[in-house]
Amino acid sequence: MTARLMDGKAIALALREEIKAKVDGLKAAGKRVPGLAVVIVGQDPASQIYVRNKHLATEAAGMKSMMRVLPETATQQEVLAVVAELNADATVDGILVQLPVPKHIDSKSVIDAIAVEKDVDGFNPENIGLLAQRTPRLRPCTPYGCMKMLEHSGIDVKGLDAVVLGQSNIVGRPAALELLMKGATVTICHSQTKDLVGHIRRADLIVAGIGKPEFVKGEWIKPGAIVIDVGINRLPSGKVVGDVDFETAKEVASWITPVPGGVGPMTIAMLIQNTLEAYEHREGK
Ligand code: GUN
Repeated sequence: MTARLMDGKAIALALREEIKAKVDGLKAAGKRVPGLAVVIVGQDPASQIYVRNKHLATEAAGMKSMMRVLPETATQQEVLAVVAELNADATVDGILVQLPVPKHIDSKSVIDAIAVEKDVDGFNPENIGLLAQRTPRLRPCTPYGCMKMLEHSGIDVKGLDAVVLGQSNIVGRPAALELLMKGATVTICHSQTKDLVGHIRRADLIVAGIGKPEFVKGEWIKPGAIVIDVGINRLPSGKVVGDVDFETAKEVASWITPVPGGVGPMTIAMLIQNTLEAYEHREGK
C-alpha cells in the first residue's frame, strides 16, 4: 500500500466534539440549543439507517433532534404540511427531508418548500446559487465534508486537475463547485461522457459519486493521485464498498478515503455543523 488514508471517521469525531463543546457553552449560558428536524417518507432500508445515524449524532452533540416519520402512502400535501409546520417552529433551526422520497412525491417542490435559512442540506436553489457565486451560506453536506477532509489532511487543491464522477445535485455538482472555489480545474464526468477512463487517467484528484460498486480501477489512476470515494454500495455478500476498487487503487494513489469510515461520517458531521451555522444565523450571530 502506498496511499495514505484520509481518516474521515476520526476527523468527523473531532469536529463533532468541537461542535458539542459549543453547544455545551450555549447550555451553560442558559440559551436555547440548536434543533434539527429530519423528515423521512416511507420505508427505504438504507434511508432508515442514515436517518437513525443523523438522529443519534444530533443528540450526541447536545442538540434537539426531531424525527417526523411519514408512511409510504403520504400525499404531497401531507409532506408539504409537515415542512410548513417545521418552517414555522421557532425551536427548529435545520430541516432535512431524506431522499429518495416515494415516486409519487415531487422531491423538488418539497426541497424548495424548506425555508432557505433552515436548509441544512444546502439543496435549495438559493444556497446552491450562493455556492456557485463563491459566497456559500449553507453547503451540501457530502461535498462540504470532502473539502474538510482534504483541509485536515493538509491538501491544497489549487491548480489540481480534478475529475468528479457523477453529476447529481447531492454530490457531483456541488462537489465541482466546491473544488472550483478552491482553485482546482474541474471536469465533471457522467453517463454521456465519451472517454471516462481517459479523464480519470489525467486526474490529480478524483471524486467518485456514481453509485457503482468498485467501478474505478487502480490501473486507471495516475500514480500519486488523490482519491475521494463517496460511494456507499452494499454487495450481495453484505459487504459495503465504495465506487473505487480500494485494493488496487490504494497501491497507486497518494491519498485515499476508505469505505466505510471515509466520506460517510463526514457527511453527518457537516450536517451537525450546518445545523449550528443555521442556528447562529437565525440567532443573529
Ligand atoms: N440521501 C442521500 N444523501 C442525502 C443527503 O445528503 N441528504 C438528504 N436529504 N438525503 C440524502
